[in-house]
Amino acid sequence: MVARILDGKSIAADLRAEVAAAVAEMKAASGAVPGLAVVLVGDDPASRSYVTGKEKACAAAGIYSREIALPATATRAEILAIVRALNADDAIDGILVQLPLPDSSIERDVIEAIDPAKDVDGFHPTNVGRMVLGLPSFVPCTPAGVVEILRRSGTPLAGATVVVIGRSQIVGRPLSILLSQKGVDATVTLCHTRTKDLAHFTREADVVVVAAGRPHTLTGDMVKPGAVVIDVGVNRVPDASKASGYRLVGDADFADVAEKAAAITPVPGGVGPMTIAMLLRNVVEAARRRRGAGA
Ligand code: GUN
Repeated sequence: MVARILDGKSIAADLRAEVAAAVAEMKAASGAVPGLAVVLVGDDPASRSYVTGKEKACAAAGIYSREIALPATATRAEILAIVRALNADDAIDGILVQLPLPDSSIERDVIEAIDPAKDVDGFHPTNVGRMVLGLPSFVPCTPAGVVEILRRSGTPLAGATVVVIGRSQIVGRPLSILLSQKGVDATVTLCHTRTKDLAHFTREADVVVVAAGRPHTLTGDMVKPGAVVIDVGVNRVPDASKASGYRLVGDADFADVAEKAAAITPVPGGVGPMTIAMLLRNVVEAARRRRGAGA
């Protein structure tokens, strides 16, 4: 079997067009323009590139975006003051603090300072709790993008056996909750670095989502023939043939897994573009809720 490529770029383009139409409608109805503030601390090149991607996507969808760039030396108090000012700023519907922060020990405090109504990342405990309870909430963008790519590619999820590899707070753990929710109805196993015999679980799965943050986590021999594989990994590996000196690879051995799977997302061009599209969707949703449903 040679896998169908699940083109996240193209599915995300459809989603972004839907968001742009919703923004245009909101503007025509009330003059309101949804606004996103992106806080970037330090100069990590990967974070810089993600933030630029998010800002460009906002512009293309008609969403106002404002970047607040702080030096890596910014203190907890300085970052919290910025977040509080953004909470009170009426032009801003969504606040995103790009992670990881140079000082990861303050991430929790910073996330908890964001007004849950503006928490378009869905990382605030209020939104996490609401999601677990199945109440309306902002859902983290990458897990939401994974569910959307599965839905829009026609992958059956009700009753399906899904293995998620990786228990991060941003991807694996929320994804395991979303997929097992009523209405999605998958049977979910959450595997992680301490899982004994990972292949034993993945070989039984109809869908494998790999979000381990490590290349070669999933190889062809670990996959059931006909399974659907979603690769959330974004790893930079040295490549002298590239001007940048590196290339991006996922957590799955793409060519090897593609021989066994029915469908697989590529890296780049799979989950990444979906994440950005879901962020835009959350910003518009935040604007609707804050400004009234008709806005
Ligand atoms: N870093 C990696 N992914 C994300 C994300 O979805 N949101 C934020 N804020 N930071 C990230």
